[in-house]
This record gives sequence, C-alpha cells and structure tokens, in this order.
Amino acid sequence: MKSQIFRYLRDRWPFSHTVQVNDIEKLVQLCEAEPWHIYAIKSRIWRRHVCIACNWVSDCTSPHETVFEPGCGSGANLLWLAQKKGFTNLRGSDLSAEAVRLCHMLATQVDANINVIEDNSLCPSHLPSNVATILSVNWLYHIQGASMADFLAIHRPCLKDRGKVVCDIIDAAYNQQANNQYHSDDLHLPPSERRPTRYLFRHSKKEMQQIAKENGFRILRSTRLHASIPRAVYMLEKT
Ligand SMILES: C[S@@+](CC[C@H](N)C(=O)[O-])C[C@H]1O[C@@H](n2cnc3c(N)ncnc32)[C@H](O)[C@@H]1O
Repeated sequence: MKSQIFRYLRDRWPFSHTVQVNDIEKLVQLCEAEPWHIYAIKSRIWRRHVCIACNWVSDCTSPHETVFEPGCGSGANLLWLAQKKGFTNLRGSDLSAEAVRLCHMLATQVDANINVIEDNSLCPSHLPSNVATILSVNWLYHIQGASMADFLAIHRPCLKDRGKVVCDIIDAAYNQQANNQYHSDDLHLPPSERRPTRYLFRHSKKEMQQIAKENGFRILRSTRLHASIPRAVYMLEKT
C-alpha cells in the first residue's frame, strides 16, 4: 500500500522532468520546426502523461538497453532519458524532417547518444531490433487512420522477449464530455466555426486489454489522469 502511494506521488511529481538545452527558440527557427516543440521542451514538466510514461520507461529498462520512440518530435523525452537517467542507446523516428533535424542538434548539444531518423511510423521503412522498450506518447491518436491495434502489430517484431510498450491513450471517458467532437481550443467559437477534435480515438481499459491481448501483449501497469482531456498511461508487455 505504502509503495503504491509512493509510486502515485512520484509519478505526479513534476520537478525532476526538466530538460536542459540552450537556445531552443533559435534552433527551432533554424530547423524550421513547429514552434510547438519549444513548448514540449520548456513546459515538459506539466505534460503529466509524458512524464509518467518516461518514469515508467526508466523503471522497466536498464540504461544500456535500447529504447525506441516513434513520433519522437524534437526528442524531448529521449533527451530526458539521456540527461536525467543515463540512457545510452536511444532511438527515435518522426515523419517531420524539421523535427528530426532539431532532435539531432539538441542531441549533439547535450552530447546524448540519440539515433533519430525520418520515417512514417504508420508504415515504417526501418525498425530497430532487440528493443527493450518502445515509448509512444502524444501523437498516435492525432493521426488520421492510425489505431492502437495496428501500432502494436507493426512494432511487436522489433521488441525483444518480454519487451515493453509504454504509451498514453485518450480515455473513453472523454466520449461522455460535452463538445468532445470539437477541437478543444475552439470551444469559445460558435459550433459551426469549430474544427473537429484532435483526439481521433479513445479507449477504455477494457478495450485496451482486448487490443493488447489480440496483438500479443498484456497490460502490466496503467493509471488514469483526471484532467480536462482524460488520458491514461499504459505499460504493456510482449507475451
Ligand atoms: C505532438 S508531437 C509529439 C512529439 C513527442 N512524442 C512528444 O511527446 O514530445 C507529434 C509528433 O508526431 C509526428 N508524427 C505525425 N505523424 C507521424 C507519423 N505518421 N509517423 C511518425 N511521426 C509522426 C509529428 O511530426 C510530431 O513531431
């Protein structure tokens, strides 16, 4: 019980999650990357779903083993694993050449061993092998045509035995919230002017159990985050 409370509090304690990089605004401009990446680095400690997932990656993986993050953006999470947890074998991929360039620059700046390539993680042209843990946060449910089931089926072969997937999901509870069909930044506008939601799929724990089982995984750990957009973080193990 005590250890559960400790875990709960540790998962939600933000201040150990900063990433130290210099000149992020300049580098984003230089790489022509999305300004969102400045937020991802500077406000990382408030992105609870991301910090919890990274804590769990660190809990279940030795620092010399391979961690792979598809959709890694600027590599903020990989940089944290290198800087704060001493990980030495970090891999990532992103669809955006600009984000990949930014990630290379940041990794060089902090002298982290992060190998990032440009790739489409819905149909990857290259996957690393013998991966201990895959981290997948804050991207899949934004992508038209993506699904958790396909993601697991595609990435399972690159995991070693009993390898893990640590991911976040929009919880199905969001389906009950008023206006969940609209873009959450547009709720001040009249309905006819609102964009559609960015949260394209949402799953309950029961659904996640089923998806995991059907694709050769089981749930080892999960937690719900009660925020305006309800999310959950899962740790799955390859069976
Ligand atoms: C909101 S950012 C999140 C980045 C990172 N996961 C994080 O939490 O900081 C979403 C990222 O997903 C990338 N992305 C979108 N579609 C993708 C695809 N099909 N394959 C790989 N990356 C993709 C975008 O380029 C973007 O960098």
